[in-house]
Amino acid sequence: MSPPEESLEKGVAREAWITRMGFIFAVWGSMTGLGNVWNWPYRVSSLGGGPFVIIYVIMLALVGIPVVLTEFVLGSTTRRGFPGALKRINKNGEFLGWFCLCNAAVLTAFYCVIIGWAVIYAGYAAVPGLVLDGPMGPALFTDQPFFFVNLLFSPLLLVGLVIVWIIIFVIDYFGTRGIERAVMLFFPILWIIIIGMAIWAFMLPGASAGLNFYLNPDPTQFLNTEMWSTAVSLSFFKLSAGMGILTAYASYLPRKGELTNSAITTSLLDTTFAFTAGLAIFPIAAFAGLLLAPPGASTVAFAFIAWPGVMIFPGGNILGVIFFIMMVFLGITSAVSLVEAIVTAVIDKFGWPRSRTVIVVVLLIFGMGLPFVNWIEAPGLAGATDVTWGLFLLDVVDYYVEFYGLVIVGLFLMLIMGWVYGGGKIVDDANESGDFKLPGWYKWFIKIVAPIGIIIALSFIVLNNFILGTASVGAGFNPGIYGAGTGYEFIIPGLWIVILVVAAFILWRLKGVD
Ligand code: TRP
Repeated sequence: MSPPEESLEKGVAREAWITRMGFIFAVWGSMTGLGNVWNWPYRVSSLGGGPFVIIYVIMLALVGIPVVLTEFVLGSTTRRGFPGALKRINKNGEFLGWFCLCNAAVLTAFYCVIIGWAVIYAGYAAVPGLVLDGPMGPALFTDQPFFFVNLLFSPLLLVGLVIVWIIIFVIDYFGTRGIERAVMLFFPILWIIIIGMAIWAFMLPGASAGLNFYLNPDPTQFLNTEMWSTAVSLSFFKLSAGMGILTAYASYLPRKGELTNSAITTSLLDTTFAFTAGLAIFPIAAFAGLLLAPPGASTVAFAFIAWPGVMIFPGGNILGVIFFIMMVFLGITSAVSLVEAIVTAVIDKFGWPRSRTVIVVVLLIFGMGLPFVNWIEAPGLAGATDVTWGLFLLDVVDYYVEFYGLVIVGLFLMLIMGWVYGGGKIVDDANESGDFKLPGWYKWFIKIVAPIGIIIALSFIVLNNFILGTASVGAGFNPGIYGAGTGYEFIIPGLWIVILVVAAFILWRLKGVD
């Protein structure tokens, strides 16, 4: 093994991780985001708890980890961002690359809106007695859900969003060094907070009801097709897979560095973090009386309603500040990773200087987030009151990005890599360094098992959404969320897919220097 500096010299003028741990930290920072306190408990609860955790781990092994490893191999062998890397595998692959980044950019756009909520929450928690006025009347941050509703109707949303983007800009401006430093600093803090929260939650009255809901496997639930499809899409979301991020980060490795080890370590760390977050969140939700809310309890219920709602004891506001700052840290390191994935792709293709690229990409995604801070009330959504256009759009678009966008990208990625590049070559590349060697038959995981898992998940999603109409996950589909039959559930995705395809096509066709 030669020292990293030596291989760096041979490299093109490309960013590089200072240490291999830096790579692992950065990937973990990307994977472990708001999803732990937002999507993870939300999916578990809208599916009725029970065996979801077990199903998730099964799908993690069958689909999630093979996809992560494939993205790593793609990045470290081509040393390019996602579109440029896929172009080297097949000339039309670049289109998939841009489609993926456009979809993920939409994800980042609304994701940062949610981080912005957490910023405002942290601010209000920090100043006891500060009230937020709005349609629900003046509310403290512990007066839930009134505070939350007021916030949705408040221009403060924009303030939160701007603060988030300033932080992201500063971190990403410094490239891998900024990311590496930020995550190394946050890593221990985040683990301490989440473990502390879980311990505290155990002692709450009603904790066992929450834990029962979370962990008690009801065997009939294994037959619920939505459990399986949601496990696959959630694993993509949680693992930053199908977003081009892992490829970009692996392209900064000075050499093929223990890819298998890294894929397994980061995926398991992320899953453990989510699992721990669940141990904290379900008892708290039970305590706040929010458990077993009708299926499809709002996406935001746990983090933004249950948690602040129980912070009413003396000193609770301090816990509030800690929790929301944790959310901001969690979110920022994920959002930064996608900004970085796009920045890399643009630099690779157009040869722009880094500073200009970061400014353009940040402004673009910030702008794409503006519809999601729209605080005008959305009338006529049956079954829902107090909904703003911003929240409604966010919920619907989120569903499409996660359940269709990421999964479709993942499927094509696996087909191209498994069959055009070669599943066997992926295994060889992964085995080139590190002491954890994959067996030869693992290539069938990449060529067959993972794609079939994704196809089955996609079929279940389509079946439940459009054919049986039985989806309990997904705004616009579950009548319990915004009322069914508003038509928006078709108009919004229709627009979404057209915009993505056109944008990806243009980016693909533009002349570049690469
Ligand atoms: N894994 C993150 C989570 O659990 C989500 C995520 C990953 C993400 N990469 C991202 C969000 C890029 C926005 C942008 O929350």
